[in-house]
Amino acid sequence: MASSGAAGPAAAPAWWRLEMAAPAELEESLLWKLQSLGILRVAVRHRPETPADRQLLAWLPAIDWPEPQRRALVRALDPLGEPFGLALPAVAWHHQPEEDWSLSWKRHWQADPVGERLLILPAWLGLPEEHAGRLVVRMDPGSAFGTGSHPTTRLCLEGLEALAAVRGGSLTGLRVADLGCGSGVLSLAALQWGAASVAASDTDPLAVRATSGNARLNGTSLQVALGSAEALELLLEGRPADLLLCNILAPVIEALCPAFERLLAVDGIGLLSGLLVEQAPALAQALATAGWRAQLSERQEPWGLMTIRRAADVA
Ligand SMILES: C[S@@+](CC[C@H](N)C(=O)[O-])C[C@H]1O[C@@H](n2cnc3c(N)ncnc32)[C@H](O)[C@@H]1O
Repeated sequence: MASSGAAGPAAAPAWWRLEMAAPAELEESLLWKLQSLGILRVAVRHRPETPADRQLLAWLPAIDWPEPQRRALVRALDPLGEPFGLALPAVAWHHQPEEDWSLSWKRHWQADPVGERLLILPAWLGLPEEHAGRLVVRMDPGSAFGTGSHPTTRLCLEGLEALAAVRGGSLTGLRVADLGCGSGVLSLAALQWGAASVAASDTDPLAVRATSGNARLNGTSLQVALGSAEALELLLEGRPADLLLCNILAPVIEALCPAFERLLAVDGIGLLSGLLVEQAPALAQALATAGWRAQLSERQEPWGLMTIRRAADVA
């Protein structure tokens, strides 16, 4: 573990800032692990010209994170690379004085245009003039995972735009189900595109709270429940959705796919992400067994977006 700056009680910093490279395969797991440890002040820094070169930043109150705890935190992050055969990138710690920590955290979240029409906007920012014509989804990035910057989230957001394009420019009239809603970013984008209603669920109480909070922030309403497919099914009250959104890791999608039949109408369409392109053939096979025709419709290496329809519907 590298660290910088003076230590000692007299010079004790108010915050520690963790910095590390965030390879695409690990970014989601790292953010998730930090969240689950109660570390919510996180940001991912990247430049538009080098989108693959991403840095993860996290701010920890110094009083709660003395050196043994920081070492334990790095040990807790260490195994996250194993499923991908990757070592954890080097972690650097920097002192940060009390007065500027929140500003520096917020500085890393900017208005984020997605596709041709959507804008993800941090709660505290005004709408930049150059984006005035875009559909705006406001987010509180401190409250939960899923700010729109992760490639799998972007694939889904762009998938919504592509779907709207083939439907004459909107998702008007569609009933949407969002399984694993996180911050609610996909639900809120679907509503911005004109969806008639959204039902969402997540197994993490933090995510349920964040989705409700972000819905309020956007002055919109949706239904959100704690739980997985069965909770979503209850919200749908026996009327499967027209559009299913599910951005979770491939093994979880595979485990959940037998339930899709109850979540998605016969002529419905599903957008699935969270899968690595190399996992697509095996996942498509599992989906086929469950009665779905799956197509890898977009990719942002190493991640893919899969579109599903009922097998009989496209045969
Ligand atoms: C990668 S995040 C996606 C968040 C958001 N939908 C997005 O696209 O940015 C995956 C979310 O799925 C949730 N999740 C994981 N397993 C789940 C399951 N079996 N059922 C429902 N939600 C689950 C996690 O808690 C997390 O919020």
